[in-house]
Amino acid sequence: MDAIEIEGGLPLSGEVSVSGSKNAALPMIAASLLAPGRSVFQEVPDLADIRTLGRLLGHMGAKVGRGDGSEPISPSLPPPPRGEPIPVGQPASRTFHVDASNLEKAEAPYELVKTMRASVLVLGPLVARFGRARVSLPGGCAIGARPIDQHLKGLEALGAQITLEGGYVIATAKRLKGATILFDLPTVTGTENLMMAAALADGKTVLENCAREPEIIALGEQLRAMGANITGEGTPLITIEGVDELKPANATVIPDRIEAGTLLCAVAIAGGDVLVKRAPVQHLEAALAKLREAGTSFTSESGGLRVRAPARPDAVDVITAPYPGYPTDLQAQLMALLSVAKGASRVVETVFENRFMHVNELQRLGADISVDGHTAVVKGVPRLSGAQVMATDLRASASLVLAGLRAEGKTTVSRVYHLDRGYEGLEKKLTSLGARVRRVPGN
Ligand code: UD1
Repeated sequence: MDAIEIEGGLPLSGEVSVSGSKNAALPMIAASLLAPGRSVFQEVPDLADIRTLGRLLGHMGAKVGRGDGSEPISPSLPPPPRGEPIPVGQPASRTFHVDASNLEKAEAPYELVKTMRASVLVLGPLVARFGRARVSLPGGCAIGARPIDQHLKGLEALGAQITLEGGYVIATAKRLKGATILFDLPTVTGTENLMMAAALADGKTVLENCAREPEIIALGEQLRAMGANITGEGTPLITIEGVDELKPANATVIPDRIEAGTLLCAVAIAGGDVLVKRAPVQHLEAALAKLREAGTSFTSESGGLRVRAPARPDAVDVITAPYPGYPTDLQAQLMALLSVAKGASRVVETVFENRFMHVNELQRLGADISVDGHTAVVKGVPRLSGAQVMATDLRASASLVLAGLRAEGKTTVSRVYHLDRGYEGLEKKLTSLGARVRRVPGN
């Protein structure tokens, strides 16, 4: 397994560009299952999670590839071992295509779902178009139980028969029928799954208490381009008038607000002056507000967002919440920053239980953090010192790399396959800004 080594202490400077959004690309690619024909997507980041979804669609019999088709995504099972290296040399094309005209099986096997929970996004499209889906339950997850009960409750309300067999959800329906569905809590992929399923249902579906993330708006636009009749995405109330069939549509993936927020936190913790190109400022309000409170300054320039950091951040209290609140996916990165703040900060995690796995690792670098239930109290220390640490999930890995930028001496982050699930060459981007970060290939 690869590791990342960071020699801390250098400020960042220069320009860096934000890649396409993983969490927007995944449902958009899954939506291509709803129609026969070829869909082409631009700005699809080359990440382990996207490759997993490509393999999953390939396993079902869809034709999937990158670029002009000369870079196929292997449909073979089982997936490569964790720690699959990011390809070196020519970067992979950002063009991704799917043709789901013919599927051999409407099935998402455990081997793939266990590596990526978002595989559940194929459930709604498969049952809506093919009348049947067999999708493995995702199982345990490092950041909490993360059930899919809301997805299943919604599909049942649309008339699907749901059974659980041998760890798999089997959903069948002759044709889904529109219904009113009230989510118990706003769920991002749950909202997306139901939007896709309802697009081909018979009649009108009203989804209430929906998640409002920008990635849901991107999916709504994609579905409309495919011929769906859908309104209200980005609000808690989404209405869908089902249609008999959809057609494929091409789309460009929006920039990744979480990667952008991570890069902003990187500058805030390392210090320096960086232009973050393609930063989706309109999707980053909560993150920018907290970074400003911490003393970081931002100026919008034609090419992007310029960020400048003070020598030491101020302490800030933060509570994670569904969009437009402060994103749980940027909690660990902000905590890394607050670990060197002037004073004590309170970080409350309300979206996921057990999303403080990075705390023990940050402590190995010298951070002073105590956790009580959903609340972490971070007492800022003047300096961190490099150590060996272990990545435990995607965003926790990013927070450790960020802490390493500030720590004196060498920090080695192991298990970076977590990082590779969701960041496109983070170490290369940081190196281009003057950081000393390198990937150490594993055996
Ligand atoms: C998505 C994002 C992930 C982000 C999360 C919260 C993708 C691919 N992933 O994950 O990066 O961290 O939103 O912003 O977009 N829940 C239930 N029952 C369900 C579904 C969810 O109880 O059926 C709970 C979860 O356990 C969690 C909360 O709802 O506590 C929010 O989860 P959800 O929005 O569903 O997260 P994901 O869609 O899995």
